[in-house]
Order: sequence, then C-alpha cells, then structure tokens
Amino acid sequence: MNPIELIRKKRNGEELTKNEMMYLVLGYTKNKIPDYQFASFLMAVYFNGMTTDETAILTEVMLYSGKVIDLSSIKGMKIDKHSTGGVGDKTSLIIAPIAAAAGVNVPMISGRGLGHTGGTLDKLEAIPGYSTNLALRDYKKVLKKCGLVLIGQTKEIAPADKLIYALRDVTATVESIPLITGSIMSKKLAEGIDGLVLDVKTGSGAFMQKFSDAKALAQSLINTAKAFDKKVLAFITDMNQPLGNYIGNWLEVYEAIKVLRGEIVPDLCEVSFTLSGAMIYLGKKVKSIKEGIDLSKKLVANGRAFEKFVELVKLQGGDVSYLYEPEKYPKSKHKLKVKSKTEGFVSAIDTYQIGVAALELGAGRLKKEDVIDPKAGIIFHKKLGDKLSKGEIVAELFTNNKKVLADTEKRIINALRVTDNKPKKQKLIKLIMR
Ligand code: URA
Repeated sequence: MNPIELIRKKRNGEELTKNEMMYLVLGYTKNKIPDYQFASFLMAVYFNGMTTDETAILTEVMLYSGKVIDLSSIKGMKIDKHSTGGVGDKTSLIIAPIAAAAGVNVPMISGRGLGHTGGTLDKLEAIPGYSTNLALRDYKKVLKKCGLVLIGQTKEIAPADKLIYALRDVTATVESIPLITGSIMSKKLAEGIDGLVLDVKTGSGAFMQKFSDAKALAQSLINTAKAFDKKVLAFITDMNQPLGNYIGNWLEVYEAIKVLRGEIVPDLCEVSFTLSGAMIYLGKKVKSIKEGIDLSKKLVANGRAFEKFVELVKLQGGDVSYLYEPEKYPKSKHKLKVKSKTEGFVSAIDTYQIGVAALELGAGRLKKEDVIDPKAGIIFHKKLGDKLSKGEIVAELFTNNKKVLADTEKRIINALRVTDNKPKKQKLIKLIMR
C-alpha cells in the first residue's frame, strides 16, 4: 500500500477499507508515516467526512492500537457517561457515585480540560492526595471493591488517539465528526463497558454550538456504539450558560459535594439526575429513565451517593476530610466581585468567554505545560432570565494572579447581554436519542 494513493482516495471522497485504514492509522502510530502525510489525510477527512461503516472502522483501528480492558471478572453491568464538554460541567462527580450507589459498575476514564472547557481529571486532582494515575490492575481492584473508579487515560489506552489528537490540535482538524467520534469512542470502548450515556452539549459554551451539529455528532456516536454492540443513550443538553454556579476545579468539586449532600442546584440537578437515571436504566437496575431519576434523588436524599463518593476518594488516596469540611480548603490570594453596570434581564451569556475567563484566572491551561491552580475560578451568580440591577454582583472571581483580574472582569461584563425584556426560558434537556 502507498500513503499517497490512500490520501488521494480520501481526498476524492472515496471510502477506505479496513486494511487501508489500518495501514494509515497504525503506520502513523508506529512512526512509519510522517506528520505531513497523516495531516493531509486528516484534512481530507475534515472536508469529505466518513461513512458510518468507515467511522466504525476508524474507531476499531484506534481502539486496538492499545489494550481493551477485560472486566468480565466483575459481575453486573458496566456503564459510563461521556460529555462533549462545557463550562461548569461537574456532572461526572455527581452521577458516577449515584449510579454506583444504585449497584451499577462505573469504570470511568476521564480527560483533562480542553480549550475553554474543564476536565474531570483536573477537578479530581483538586482533592489533596487523590491519584488519577492508577495502573490497570489497581483500576480493576478499585472498581471491584467500590463499584466505581475514576482515573486518567493510561499509555495502554488508545495510543493512536493520543498521537492523532495532538496532530489534529495543530492542523485545524479537531472539529470533524468522524474524527471526534473515533477519538471519544476508542477511549470509552477500551474501558470494558457494556453501555454508555452521552451528554452532547450545544450552545455558546459547547464545541458544537449549533444544535444540528450536536445532533449529527450524537448520531455518529450512537451509530458507532451500536456497531460495537454497546447499549447507548444520548442527550443533547443546553450549554448557553454555565451549568450550576461554580466554575474552576476545587469550586466544582465543592458544588458537587453540595449536591451530593442534598442541596438543590436546579439546572445542575436536572442534568445530573437525568444522566444518572439513564445510567441506572442502562445498567438494568430500573425499568425506565424516569424510575432511574427517582432512584437518583432517593440515593442523594438518603446519603448513599455521598458515602459512595467518600469511599471512592479514600480508595484513590484522597483526603476525605475535605469532603466533610470543604470550607477548610485553602483560599485564593485575590478575589474580586464583578458588578453589573446596567439593569434589565440577563438575556444571553457568551459561555465560551466565561470558560476563557476561568482559564485566565488559573483554572485551565493556556499552554500545554501550564500548571493549574485548583482554587482559581468563578462563582457565577446569575442565570438566563434573571433580573439584574445596576451595581448588583454578577460573579465572584478567585485567583492567585492579581494581574489578570481587571481583564477578566471586563471579559465577564462583555459576555453578558442585558435587555429590557425577559427572554423565553429554554429547555435544558433538548433531545433524547437512542
Ligand atoms: N474529546 C475527545 O476525546 N476527542 C475529541 O476529538 C474531541 C473531544
């Protein structure tokens, strides 16, 4: 086979066979095909897309570039959730313990923050001592003991994705539905799951801002999960404002603890209980998503979900005293209250800018080597449709880097659209797909 012929084939919009895909993807992973040729292939995929079968083949080749974890020694259904990423999206920290408390096994391998969105790994690492870096043997041990494990991607899991993702990042080929599908599904299928719940975000703080793009991505992820005989449910959920009120790594752990201890944060609880309800349903512990939602609320109210979270953190080396007394967590050196300059109703929030603001405060990485400040972030007090008076506090900023405060304050003010008329309330769960 010849890489130039295969690039030409894809450039001309033709479908590649499994052998051809293996030649290209494994050749690149083994360093036999250079960056410039694989980058051309990626750009051809970006423009011409892939068929459903071809996307499944790409996923399979990426999946078997590494290990697929065998969880057959653990009894019961293994169900995970994947979110395409948003601002203030800490649902994994809430739903994984709820589903595990319902008796579903949750083997979760999560990622770090990407662009303006946060990542579950960075949030967990805000808990002093918590190790996201378990060997696969220990991954299984924790799952067996607790019904739940939450770690980061290891070298053995889908190594092709690691290399291809880094190349996509610098060749403007991230935003391609088949490439995103292969990337997400190869990692999720490697976990040894029986089923997957997908939370595909849409709106100003999502990667797929347009509803039609989010729907197409959800369909592609569903088709691929089905090609591997996995149970799957996808939700398209709103990301036109931060989810909950806290953004930033420890701040999000703090809000997740509040919810797990029974506090009602309306939007965060609605999305979280829907996703955990779907996991419990796919895990065959109830007969409908609705029953799963009811059970989720019960497991929070009776304290079982919080206990499960404590058990997980303890098993992965974290200091659980911070879960019982979150107020003792160290504080940022600098704080600023952002006050409204106008009055009216909050009618739009550029949520991407809110994510960037959190990142600038130290909650994310501007460069690959940047070190995250777990305390940094934003408490965002306003929701779409809220009334706002002049001088009212919109948000509180936390950082150790005083220099960024003034610019971040401006960014937040500019991200808000305030109008005289109250906007129509938008649905949070926009669509369920199966
Ligand atoms: N998340 C991933 O893991 N991969 C992508 O390509 C995009 C989001």
